[in-house]
Amino acid sequence: MTTATTGPTTAKGAVGTAHTRVEGRDKVTGAARYAGEIPFADLAHGWLVLSTVARGRIRSIDTDPVLGMPGVLAVLHHGNAPRVDTDYVGMLGIPPDPTAAVFQNDRVPHAGWPVALVVAGTPEQAREAAEALVVTYDTEPHDITLSADRPDAYPADGHMPAETEKGDLAAGLAASAVVVDEEYTTPEEHHSMMEPHAATALWDGGRLEVVDSNQGTTWIQGELVKMFSLDESSVRVRSEHVGGGFGSKGLRAHQVSAVMAATVLHRPVRVVMTRRQMFSLAGYRSPTTQHVRLGAGADGRLRALEHRSLNQTSTVYEFVEPGAGVARVMYDAGAHRTANHVVRLDVPSPTFMRAPGEAPGSFAIESAFDELAERCGVDPIDLRLRNEPEVGPVSGLPFSGRNLAACFNEGARRFGWAERDPRPGVRRDGRWLLGTGTAAASFQAGAGPSTALVTAEADGTFTVRIAAADIGTGARTALTLVAADALDVTPEQVRVRIGDSDFGPAMIAGGSMGTRSWAWAITEAARELRERLALGTSIPPEGITVRSDTTAALGALAQKERHSFGAQFAEVAVDTATGEVRVRRMLGIFAAGRIVNPLTARNQLVGGMVWGISMALHEEAVRDRASGGLYGPDLAGYHVATHADVPDVEADWVDDPDPDDPVGIKGVGEIGIVGAAAAVANAVWHATGVRHRSLPIRPDRVL
Ligand code: MOS
Repeated sequence: MTTATTGPTTAKGAVGTAHTRVEGRDKVTGAARYAGEIPFADLAHGWLVLSTVARGRIRSIDTDPVLGMPGVLAVLHHGNAPRVDTDYVGMLGIPPDPTAAVFQNDRVPHAGWPVALVVAGTPEQAREAAEALVVTYDTEPHDITLSADRPDAYPADGHMPAETEKGDLAAGLAASAVVVDEEYTTPEEHHSMMEPHAATALWDGGRLEVVDSNQGTTWIQGELVKMFSLDESSVRVRSEHVGGGFGSKGLRAHQVSAVMAATVLHRPVRVVMTRRQMFSLAGYRSPTTQHVRLGAGADGRLRALEHRSLNQTSTVYEFVEPGAGVARVMYDAGAHRTANHVVRLDVPSPTFMRAPGEAPGSFAIESAFDELAERCGVDPIDLRLRNEPEVGPVSGLPFSGRNLAACFNEGARRFGWAERDPRPGVRRDGRWLLGTGTAAASFQAGAGPSTALVTAEADGTFTVRIAAADIGTGARTALTLVAADALDVTPEQVRVRIGDSDFGPAMIAGGSMGTRSWAWAITEAARELRERLALGTSIPPEGITVRSDTTAALGALAQKERHSFGAQFAEVAVDTATGEVRVRRMLGIFAAGRIVNPLTARNQLVGGMVWGISMALHEEAVRDRASGGLYGPDLAGYHVATHADVPDVEADWVDDPDPDDPVGIKGVGEIGIVGAAAAVANAVWHATGVRHRSLPIRPDRVL
């Protein structure tokens, strides 16, 4: 493994030095318990029953035979389940997806919709009864076809405005010497993290406790408080270890159905999704069809840019995969238009999935840029550098830092780009055609309000409590290093406790904002604590605790275009006899703020790049038009990159501390996947001379 170029470290030196995960030993020895394996006395097990039809109404649910089966305690469904409130806006500023608000009516809006929960003494009993439960439906015709020309598509905002426009696009294109006008598609993709969604709900002395696997305990607590009309102080959500989230581990059917069953049965109830159920209930990345039009002078300078993206959503929830958003940050032109549209189909609700918007959006625009480079006869890196904007192309705001050129320069040097022959289809290695490709990457760098508790213990150690989530990223370890530096002690003197809503409100592990948001709160509390200790205060047995809240500090931040940037490089070999594409090496150089822990940051970036290989070559969930369901909804049918598909992948970074962040952090969670698929696709073009505008680049498409 190549070691990463670390930026300057502080005098204290915890931040910026490689540390293995503080809970790593617990994880590899099995001492770390995940939500589905924590023991509870008197635990009952719920098994979700999903609809077999794609649209219609539930006519009947024949519960009597099932209630007589061994161990069965209850069958919850729309006829008997507690009512919940869904007319609210949660912590993320969005209403809940009704897929999570289970059993409220008899409508079936898609295949795999939760229609019942069978609860029994053991998981096996619950499963057997769930599989025996007879549900009949009045079916209605369904429509699951996403296409670029849907007349019922409409602009939708999601977490950014649906459309932006400046200048005269038609005139800009007409005045351009070179025009690229192409359509790109990406398929339905699924998170399928290793640890399935799992929650145990119990009432304990008038308090609802939910032991879950999620990306934010105070987020899920807030949702359950509102949904079940409870007191904030009467709900506690814990989530200590999380085996992957990627955007999917929010409020879902498992927590809500477990709370319903625990409430009805007055005993702890656990609901775990099966791998197959996750393909219906866990959300997914919508397929996209995207249209990109680029107009440029012969020198490659852009005059016109249009990026339109269409995604599907369900009939019950509007989720926008904002593919056109990346063009608003990356490239400017006198005429500039972007649009995110959705169409409602009889499919499950999509959701956030690593780099939502940027992942598919960068495939389209970074492929289109490679096509423009080819047609202009300009090197793809030069083309991008010639089009570097001074300020945010749509926002007009200054960048908090935009070190894209540094990423390309360092990447080109290390990848050996200067020796590249631009002609496609001319390099051979036996039966393989060889090519290289590049693409740019960007992702927002934000922070969300958080609170932290930092305690000076009587024994000279320190305890940090924050409702952070470590979804496998190494956040717990990064926060340990941040706290150590802020307290001016060694990491060994700090214990960081996370994943408990009782620690107070905190940002979720999402939007690449978790570590930055939590580090900010910890730094503030630590600073105040040190000031108090400097007064020579003696520490009582219960310690001295300081609580911080970053709401005010974040509110005072100047408006800027805050993003991380990166340059992706790939080399591929294409077998002209079988159509197989093999990635031979990848390099990503990122400008992603100050790197807290080079070891786990590199894991994040390489993980994203591997996912980019997977997105480029393998991942594709295929829906059956007749049933509305998926073919092979499991890890046998849904192909992801495995070890044999992943060669030498290297990620490194340039110095890029965020000037407005107390630690200099931006965030590394999502940018690794951005541009990665385009770099691979551009390399396939360079190898073969054939453009691939639809992912994945399957062997049958290559031939
Ligand atoms: Mo990320 S898709 O915001 O978990």
